[in-house]
Amino acid sequence: MPLRVAVLYGGRSGEHEISLRSAESIIAGLDRAKYDVQRIFITPEGRWEPRALSAEPGANPGIDVVFPILHGTFGEDGTVQGLLELADLPYVGAGVLASAVAMDKEVTKRLLVERGLPVAEYATVIRGGHRNDFNLPFPLFVKPANLGSSVGISKVKTCAELPAALELASQYDRKILVERGIAGREFECSVLGSEQPIAAVPCEVIPSRDFYDYEDKYLLDAAKLIVPAPLTPEQTAEMQRMAVAAYQAVECEGMARVDFLMENATGKLYINEINTIPGFTSISMYPKMWEAAGVPFTELLDRLIGLALDHHRTRQATRFKR
Ligand SMILES: Nc1ncnc2c1ncn2[C@@H]1O[C@H](COP(=O)(O)OP(=O)(O)O)[C@@H](O)[C@H]1O
Ligand SMILES: [Mg+2]
Repeated sequence: MPLRVAVLYGGRSGEHEISLRSAESIIAGLDRAKYDVQRIFITPEGRWEPRALSAEPGANPGIDVVFPILHGTFGEDGTVQGLLELADLPYVGAGVLASAVAMDKEVTKRLLVERGLPVAEYATVIRGGHRNDFNLPFPLFVKPANLGSSVGISKVKTCAELPAALELASQYDRKILVERGIAGREFECSVLGSEQPIAAVPCEVIPSRDFYDYEDKYLLDAAKLIVPAPLTPEQTAEMQRMAVAAYQAVECEGMARVDFLMENATGKLYINEINTIPGFTSISMYPKMWEAAGVPFTELLDRLIGLALDHHRTRQATRFKR
């Protein structure tokens, strides 16, 4: 009997539209000889709507594994993962803890620092507590601690621009990060696995704007994405090692995309952030890096589902009572 895979997509976050595109490519990529595919669409208001696949009428009801492809708030942040744990359903990707941690850029940094991994120097501001004594050189990046898609993020070049940047970020979160801007190059590296995670071939992102902002990510189609990233074999190996170490530092499972900044002046690598539900659209880098590493899309989906089932089996072997 084919495995019943429910693709959970849409959702309440600002990345609803991206989720639709990611879900379409996953639904198209799942091997129909192995899987009965069901859609569960979440409206932007948060209503859950099972949707039949017209091509597969009368599909076998019930769910064996869930593939949540909800980017951002209420999906990538541990909330949906918690619900799936309660329902005792296997699901693809990081669990509650890693999802929640990776969504919070500040808690992520603390765990990375604890493992000796390099992150850009930063300060934290709580909404309303506006200040400008950061002791960090300009330019600064001001960002909400929990969000994605570059929403609410500003590059601040002078003291005068700081209040507006803090005000903007504080619309999106109570906690705001003020970071030293790293002048240099930007990279991403896909990681896959649970007990023994592996890193794919990294890619380089070359923004068409001042930084990789919302327009550049989703609207302009002008940023350049180069895979494999033009790096020396040593730099590539170092990035892969750091990507896996970051993944393990936040206890990721299944998959994540680890993003880097490389400072021009020093050649030093910094870990910028970890995305536990990276984009899966037809042009997204997470699957493209795996293709470059010799793992075709359909096989990547098989591996992710396999990892979800393994995890669930392992968890069932755990006692929850005396
Ligand atoms: N400290 C920094 N130095 C240089 N560029 C940065 C820094 N922080 C963020 N950026 C730029 O802003 C973009 C979005 O920031 P990021 O922290 O990745 O947030 P998001 O979760 O919204 O993707 C990055 O891709 C990069 O171009
Ligand atoms: Mg980012």
